[in-house]
Amino acid sequence: MQKNEFISLMERYKQVHIIEHLRTLSSEDERDFLNNVSDMNFELTFSLHERFSSENQRPIKYEKIEPPEVIDLETADREQKDTILNTGEKTIAEGKTAVTIVAGGQGTRLGYPHPKGMYPVSPIKGKSLFQINSEKILALSLRYNVKIPFLVMVNPENRKEIEGFFRKNRFFGLEKENLFFFTQEMLPSITPDRKLVLKDRTSLLSNPDGHGGSLKALWQSGLIKKIEDLGVTKVFYCHIDNPIVKVDDPLFLGWHIREKANFSLKVVRKRYSGEKVGNFVLADGKPRIIEYIELPDELRDRKDSRGKPVFWAGSIGIHFINTAFIKKINSNGFALPYHRQVKKAPEGISPEVKEIWKFETFIFDALPLAGKVCCLETLREEEFAPLKNSEGEDSPREVQKAMLNFYRKQMSDRGIDVAEGVKVEISPLANLEKMNLPSIITEDTYIE
Ligand code: UTP
Repeated sequence: MQKNEFISLMERYKQVHIIEHLRTLSSEDERDFLNNVSDMNFELTFSLHERFSSENQRPIKYEKIEPPEVIDLETADREQKDTILNTGEKTIAEGKTAVTIVAGGQGTRLGYPHPKGMYPVSPIKGKSLFQINSEKILALSLRYNVKIPFLVMVNPENRKEIEGFFRKNRFFGLEKENLFFFTQEMLPSITPDRKLVLKDRTSLLSNPDGHGGSLKALWQSGLIKKIEDLGVTKVFYCHIDNPIVKVDDPLFLGWHIREKANFSLKVVRKRYSGEKVGNFVLADGKPRIIEYIELPDELRDRKDSRGKPVFWAGSIGIHFINTAFIKKINSNGFALPYHRQVKKAPEGISPEVKEIWKFETFIFDALPLAGKVCCLETLREEEFAPLKNSEGEDSPREVQKAMLNFYRKQMSDRGIDVAEGVKVEISPLANLEKMNLPSIITEDTYIE
């Protein structure tokens, strides 16, 4: 951004303290500063600030919250499942799917000094989340003999490091032409009294615009057009922090197609009624994910006649989304709503700033806009072990434990016994059906 352009923007929004700061910078620092702010959407932050300042921000109240329809794979019959699986496999083999993994978050809770996708999470090989997911895509491309575009969402601050990591690791065996990085928008954070905040001498405090920003960035980057030109009509979406996700799951895809859905999701049973996950519900007749605080206590704890929780479905950030739907929600401005997060000011900034507002969008807010949605229940131990925190629940320790159980289960499903305390890690590239495996594993083993 040009200096004059930036100054007039700051004048327009009465950010005198920022203009004054800019005047104290050396020409080199000034260049860095202007460079750092060039991708930020100031207009959006100020207009959101105005809106959130004037609105009464209580959680939305719905007239009627009901349990939604969820497909339970256990009750579907074998023949039906096989047909649905075939549809999914055929669609993948025809090159109609792409995979988007979002890795633009700041990973604050984990506190790892690099992008979260670089975290060496696998229990024996220490493979990173990026490697595990890339290998899953490579395995699918080989299995179905097809190119699957892999779209990785990054943010302007972590893009360079993530691209460098892929390059250094030779794209984990993927063809470079099928790998696309796209950058989400950054929004400056702001104080409740409408002041931008300096992070350090050459940058402003800012945040990526949430995982929902992927639907905007996929569109604005031109990637939707590009993959549609390649024949893709459906995008598998997941978060980088879940190493046991079934990437581009053909069965899930088959259901998505069968139900003629525009947007699909997988859910798991909540561990306890107040678990801090988004609840999948029908709110005033529309499918939505609502936060645990939006679900009244009485509903949260409600049981059916068999004593089972009525609102049990927790969203886990796994979706199929039609490219036509992504196009639609961008056709008249970006349709997803922005949420305000009120955060304690981070350390290292001016002590006068006590609180900041961050604005974000959430992927699941596409649900009520989608018309037809399809929801599939899956088992936590088979598909969901998110790396979120440095300690306790969802920490590296817990994720590795879940991964080991996940691999152990794959062995026991094949009649292979893994001795107590022994670790097994399975490469996503391993073709277990064609391997000659022992009937018992007695020492730590990596299967590739
Ligand atoms: P989370 O909401 O758990 O955020 O993101 P996070 O960045 O991983 O961690 P915290 O909250 O700062 O501790 C779920 C997924 O969405 C991605 C993350 O990279 C993760 O894969 N995400 C989140 C984005 O890509 N962009 C965002 O702006 C936010």
